[in-house]
Formats: sequence, structure tokens, C-alpha cells
Amino acid sequence: MDLKSQIDINNLPGHVAIIMDGNGRWAKQHNQPRVFGHRHGVRAVREVTESAAELGIKYLTLYAFSTENWARPKLEVDTLMRLLVDTLSKEIATLNKNNIRLDAIGDLQRLPSATFNALMDGIQSTRNNSRMTLILALNYSGKWDLIQATQHIAAQVLDGTLDPESINEALIQNNLSTHGIPDPELLIRTSGERRLSNFLLWQLAYSELFFSPVFWPDFSKEHFYQAILDFQHRERRFGKISEQLVK
Ligand code: IPE
Ligand code: IPE
Ligand code: MG
Repeated sequence: MDLKSQIDINNLPGHVAIIMDGNGRWAKQHNQPRVFGHRHGVRAVREVTESAAELGIKYLTLYAFSTENWARPKLEVDTLMRLLVDTLSKEIATLNKNNIRLDAIGDLQRLPSATFNALMDGIQSTRNNSRMTLILALNYSGKWDLIQATQHIAAQVLDGTLDPESINEALIQNNLSTHGIPDPELLIRTSGERRLSNFLLWQLAYSELFFSPVFWPDFSKEHFYQAILDFQHRERRFGKISEQLVK
């Protein structure tokens, strides 16, 4: 039986987050420069976005560029930023056709202006779509997110509109870049690495983690279905014991 038909559509993760990793190693395997891997990674983005929307997943967050990635060779960073502009301008029509809304999290103001503008155009032109939200994490890091949330909260305390006693989980949640978006139930990381690399630190507090050995450019719909099926076979206890759960 094919994998897709085994998926229980009544038990889907509402939000899937993915650390798309392994483009460079994939390129090396093919005796090509690293940027060749990034270009091929776009195919996987398209496939996974399409399969997530088809299944009925409401939010898909893709880690596309971390705060730490600025430390890579300039040629690679420049190529990635240009690839983003090209891909965004090419794919916006497809997103609209499929009723997918584009959003972004991260310190976006610090992106090169061409990348920032392409992103804003995409967000603007897809803003009324409702089937799924595709969130790109760009110049994002989990620590950055917590810092900017803390700055907002501190400013409210300073101007007297917030009592420190009323700081709670919901307030912190509301000041994160992901406000209004439910936490991911499932995190996927490709390429065999088993770390978070400063991704959604707060938001992943209770997420199920799925590590795939496949390099991102080779990640297909079938691999994505496998991750969803694996998620559906897990028992999420949230601190309770198995017998307490309503099955
Ligand atoms: C992920 O692939 C893409 C980005 C971080 C932009 P990598 O470029 O990290 O590929 P590896 O990990 O070097 O193989
Ligand atoms: C994490 O991948 C960032 C993105 C996928 C955008 P990296 O390849 O940069 O992570 P590390 O450096 O191996 O931890
Ligand atoms: Mg990597």
C-alpha cells in the first residue's frame, strides 16, 4: 500500500517545521560546487510544500537561512540570497494558484534589499490565501527570537503598560516572531544531523523530532509521508502517563 493512503488525515500535525540540511554534501557527492545543491534544494521545497498542502497541514515552516549562516563564504551567501529572489518571483504564481499564503520569520530588515523586497512582494500578494501558510525562516535564530521578544516586553514594562507580575507563557508567545502560529507538533531535520542549530527554541519545547538521513535535495513526497506516518505512531504524553490519555 502506498504511504500517502496510510496517513490518517484526522491526526495530522497542524504545523510541521523543517531544517532543510545537506545541500552542500549532496553537491559534493555529485562533484559539483555547493550552490548546485542549493539550486536542487528548491525542487524539494516545491515537493514538500505541495504534499503538505495536499494533506491538509495548515502551517509549514522551512529553515532557509540562519543568523549563523552569514559566516559562510561570501559567494555562497550571495548566491543563496539571489536564489531566494529568483525562486520567490517564480513561485508566487504557483502559491496563489494553490491558495498558499507566504509568511516569514527572522530579522528580515537585515536581509539584502532585493531579497527583502521579493519577500515582501510575495507576502503581500498571497496574503488572502487560506489553505496553508508557508513560513520561511530567514536570518532567523531561536535566540534572536527570544531576545527581540524580551526587548518588546521590557519596553512595555518601562513605559508602564505592563506589570512584570503578569508576564506568563501566553505573553511571551505573543511577543515571539511566531505569534498567532501554533507551535510545531513535528520537526524534521534532513541529512542525518541531530541538532536544532538555533531553530525555534521556545516553540519546539514539546515537538516530536524526526531525523532523516536523506540530503535535502533528495527529500521527496514519500520521505515526507514517512515522517508524518512516524509522527502518527507516537504517543504524545505531555508529562502524563499512557493510561491517562484519551484514546
Ligand atoms: C542546508 O544545506 C542549506 C542551508 C543551510 C542554507 P547546507 O548548505 O547546510 O548543506 P551541508 O550541511 O553543508 O551539506
Ligand atoms: C541549519 O543548517 C540552518 C538551515 C538549515 C538554514 P546548518 O547546516 O547551517 O547547521 P549547522 O551549522 O550544521 O549546525
Ligand atoms: Mg548544513
